[in-house]
Amino acid sequence: MTARIIDGKAFAERLCGRVKRQVAVLKERHGITPGLAAVMVGDDPASLIYVRNKERRIAEVGMNSAGRQLGADTPQAEVLELVAGLNRDPAVNGILIQLPLPGHLDSEALIDAVDPAKDVDGFHPLNVGLLANTRTAMVPCTPRGCMMLLKDALGEIGGMTAVVVGRSNIVGKPLARLLLAADCTVTVAHSKTRELAALCRSADILISAVGRAGMVRGDWIKPGATVIDIGINRIEQEGGPEGSSEGSKGRLVGDVAFDEAVEVAGAITPVPGGVGPMTIACLLDNTLMATCRQAGIEVPADPGN
Ligand code: GUN
Repeated sequence: MTARIIDGKAFAERLCGRVKRQVAVLKERHGITPGLAAVMVGDDPASLIYVRNKERRIAEVGMNSAGRQLGADTPQAEVLELVAGLNRDPAVNGILIQLPLPGHLDSEALIDAVDPAKDVDGFHPLNVGLLANTRTAMVPCTPRGCMMLLKDALGEIGGMTAVVVGRSNIVGKPLARLLLAADCTVTVAHSKTRELAALCRSADILISAVGRAGMVRGDWIKPGATVIDIGINRIEQEGGPEGSSEGSKGRLVGDVAFDEAVEVAGAITPVPGGVGPMTIACLLDNTLMATCRQAGIEVPADPGN
């Protein structure tokens, strides 16, 4: 059996299309244009690519972008001051601090400084706590995108066994909370987990968010299981370029040995083109929701095409 490929790129395109139509309604009916500020400190090449992609998408859906790029040695007080200004600015509805930050900065203090109502990443402790208690919260973008893909691929997931490999604050932990809220039986595995392969083989839904190319092998997967690969790893190129993900700096692969997994799983997300595009789409949707909450209005219904 060959697994069904879960097309995250197409799903994200549809979601961005929906957000774009809703933003148009928001402008027309309420005169509001959502604004998103991405704060980037330093020049980490991967972060630069992410932030540029985000800014391109923000413009495409008709939102305003208020990106701020600061030098790598910007002191903590200066970044805090910038965040305080964005908190006060009524034209800024969403604030995102691109991670990782340079080592001299206190990431936690900066995340804590973001107004929770503008915290479109869902990283502020207030939003983390609300999510943990299954209350209305700003939900981190990658986990939210995974849940959308899972529900689209599987329908009802209540009662299923889910194994999440990786326990980061950005992905693993919030995703485990969302799966639990969706009535899955959830196990979070990590670098100290024993018998990892056997544990993974017990999962109806197997999710990897580790950052180790090809770690999840075909024989780690229960036949027919749904596999969500959140890893984005750049590996040295072997042979010539084959696709858009390949370039002089190598090619992108996930945590899952795709060629093996596709023969065992029931459905699987590819890398690239799986979860990755969902992160930005959910960021835009979170910004739309944050804007409407701040204005005290309902998110406009999708007027359709
Ligand atoms: N760095 C890697 N992923 C993310 C993300 O989802 N949000 C932010 N702010 N930084 C990141």
